[in-house]
This record gives sequence, structure tokens and C-alpha cells, in this order.
Amino acid sequence: MDNKLEDIAAQIKFDILTPTQDVDNEKLIEEVSRSFISDTITVPTKEMYAYAVRTSVGDDVYHEPSMLALEAHMAKIAGKEAAMFIPSGTMSNQLALRTHLQQPPYSVICDVRGHINKYEAGGTSFHSGAHLICVNPSNGHHLTLEDIQDYVVEGSDIHTSPTRVISLENTLNGTIMPQHEAVAICNYAHQLDIRTHLDGARLWHVAAETRTPMHELCAPFDSVSLCFSKGLGAPVGSCLVGSKQFIAKARWFRKLFGGGMRQTGILAGAAAYALTYNFPQLPYVHTLTKELEDGLVELGAKIISPAETCMLFYDPAPIGVTYQEIAHRASELARPIAVGGSRLVVHIQTSPEAIADLLGVIRTLKEEKAREGVNRLVDTMNGVRLNGTNGCPNCGKGAKQLASSSFNIYAKPPKKSA
Ligand SMILES: Cc1ncc(COP(=O)(O)O)c(C=O)c1O
Repeated sequence: MDNKLEDIAAQIKFDILTPTQDVDNEKLIEEVSRSFISDTITVPTKEMYAYAVRTSVGDDVYHEPSMLALEAHMAKIAGKEAAMFIPSGTMSNQLALRTHLQQPPYSVICDVRGHINKYEAGGTSFHSGAHLICVNPSNGHHLTLEDIQDYVVEGSDIHTSPTRVISLENTLNGTIMPQHEAVAICNYAHQLDIRTHLDGARLWHVAAETRTPMHELCAPFDSVSLCFSKGLGAPVGSCLVGSKQFIAKARWFRKLFGGGMRQTGILAGAAAYALTYNFPQLPYVHTLTKELEDGLVELGAKIISPAETCMLFYDPAPIGVTYQEIAHRASELARPIAVGGSRLVVHIQTSPEAIADLLGVIRTLKEEKAREGVNRLVDTMNGVRLNGTNGCPNCGKGAKQLASSSFNIYAKPPKKSA
């Protein structure tokens, strides 16, 4: 190497590993096992990577052998003609919609809570120029045919934007869409020449929980997006499945979107490992989620959206505790727990101990609040005795009544524990 090249090489070189990389990673794995934020945070294991690095090393824009094998397998298990690997679930949904939508003006119907409406940066209008019609499920759980029928736009009135795609999501917020409803909606759509797409990022959970084969769950839809990087615990990727013609066009759009990747064998390997070794763990994940739900119910928290698979939504207000208090107290444990707001997600790397500890945090807060409540009441009553004017805000008794009450409300409050 000449001097100039040596200088440039010195500027360019980079050792990305920290001096304590292995220990850092162990720490991260511990954090992941105690985080209820999402299932996207699961870490690839040494075993997964050991398997993945043995895959083929071709360039996927020219059709990488291991990736081709994965795509063929995905098409087979989904019961579709073809499949295509895509870097993310968002891109997979957006490519599907872009491929289905051909001649504007047009609209897409989806659940108001759906990922394509709430969390894809408005991509459907950006990439496809489509009007999203967002429907509220009347039963609060899943969209029904009746819900959708009210919103389908048909005909040739030039004031309207005809419905060309109905896009459903299963699971949605961790809840399972009844398959008969998916079938009814898709049959209805197809009669009107409307295409159907399923955001099946977590459809694996439905298969595992209801013991329904993937091909049966995918059958009603023209296209389905399936993610490897959520409940299945792979580091990267989703697969879009559909007809040969659909996937051929979507492959073109993937290149256009900048999603054509090169040596993807290692990603295909990680996905294959996840399918084989992580999918069978999902029923256990669901059991843990139900345990968490049972614990919350026992404590008196309100369940907003039930633990049908790997997540639940809850409200601790009935026990006088806030999300912020829970998050703060959980983060202060010797082995901290990470929680956000109402959503709690369980995944294949969640430790059962973390569930017990989180419930412990909420229990402690509840008890503290109850004690504070008693203390406040006692303070109020003491004020009543001293002033002799106010009544009890809780029981409605007047001050005099209280003063003559046999219940010793004026007893000294118990000492607060530290
Ligand atoms: C239901 C659903 N669809 C799509 C996505 C998007 O996946 P990605 O984060 O890979 O873009 C997510 C992400 O969590 C999701 O929950």
C-alpha cells in the first residue's frame, strides 16, 4: 500500500465492536427479556446466526438461491403461486397496495385502527395516490361485512373515488379476526371486482392459537404480507405472497422503491430458522400473555383489548394508578422493566419473571394508593372534627353524623412504608 492509500484507508477503517461487545449484548438480551414495548425488539440468537451464515451467498437482484428457496417455501405454506422477500412489513403492505391499484381515482377500505392507516406515514396516499376509507368496527373487535358494505364506493359517479382494495389486518392489536368474517368480506369484494389484501404481520399467531394452517388463513385474500421480524424473532424481513402475475409486478415496484437487495441469503437463513424453531413457541407466548392478563384482572385493572395472542391493552385507572407511575417504578427496579402505555406485548424472549415483577410493581402501587386514600380520608375526617363543618366526601355522611359514628375514623393513620 502506498502512503496516500494508507492514509485514506486509515480514515476509512472502522472497528464497530465495543471492547465489551459480548457483555453488552448479554445486557441487551436481559433488557429485551424485560421489555413489554414490542415484539420487534427480539434479538437474533447465536444459534440463529450460526444457521444463517451457512446459506448461499448470491445477489438477490439476480435471484439468490437461498432466498429463492425461502420464497418458494413461503408461497407453498401460504397456498399462493409466488412470494417475494421485502425488507419491512411497511414496505410489503405499501408494495401490495401499489401493485393492486392501477387506474386512479381509487380508494382503499381498512380498519381505522389498522397499521396502514395509523403507522405507515400516510404511505398509501403518498405511494399510490389512494384515498383511504377508514372504518370503525361496530363490535369494537373486528370489521364485519356489514361494517364494510356501508363504505364501499361503487359506480361511475365522477364525484367519488371507487373502492379498488379492501385491506384487512390479522391479528389487529393482537386480536384474531374470525376466519368466516374474512371469507365473507373477501367473497363480497371479489364479486364487485375489488382486490383484497391482508396485513398478516402476525398471522403466525392466529395459526398457532387457532391451529389453522396458514394456507387456509391466506386463502380468501389476493395478497398477504407476512413478517419474520415480529413474533417470529428474525432480525429482518417480510414476505408478500400472491399470484405469479401479482408478485412479478410487485417485484418491479420493489426495485423502483429501492427495496432490491443483494446478498440476502443470511436474511433468508434467519427467517428459515425462525419458521422452524420460533413458530412452535408462540402458544407458550400466548399462555404467558394470558397469565399477565389474569394478573391484571385480579388486581382490578381494566382490560381494554384482550390477550387473544401476544399482546393486550389495559387501563390501570380503576385501581388509581397511572401508566406513568407504572413505567417510572418499573424502570427503577434493580432489574428494570420497560413498559409504555396501555399496550403490553409478550414475545419469545420475554422472561416469565418479568411478568411476575411487572404485576408486583402494579400491586405495590395499588396498595400504596389505597393507603394514601385511607390517609387522605383520615386527614379529611380530622379536618371535619377540627372544623366541625365538612361532611365526608366519600360516604356522604355529614360532619356531626361522623363525629358520633362508632367507626374510629380518627384513629392514627398507619405509618407509610418506605
Ligand atoms: C400489523 C403490522 N403491520 C405492519 C407492520 C410494519 O412492519 P415494519 O416495522 O417491519 O415496517 C407492523 C409493525 O409492527 C405491524 O404491527
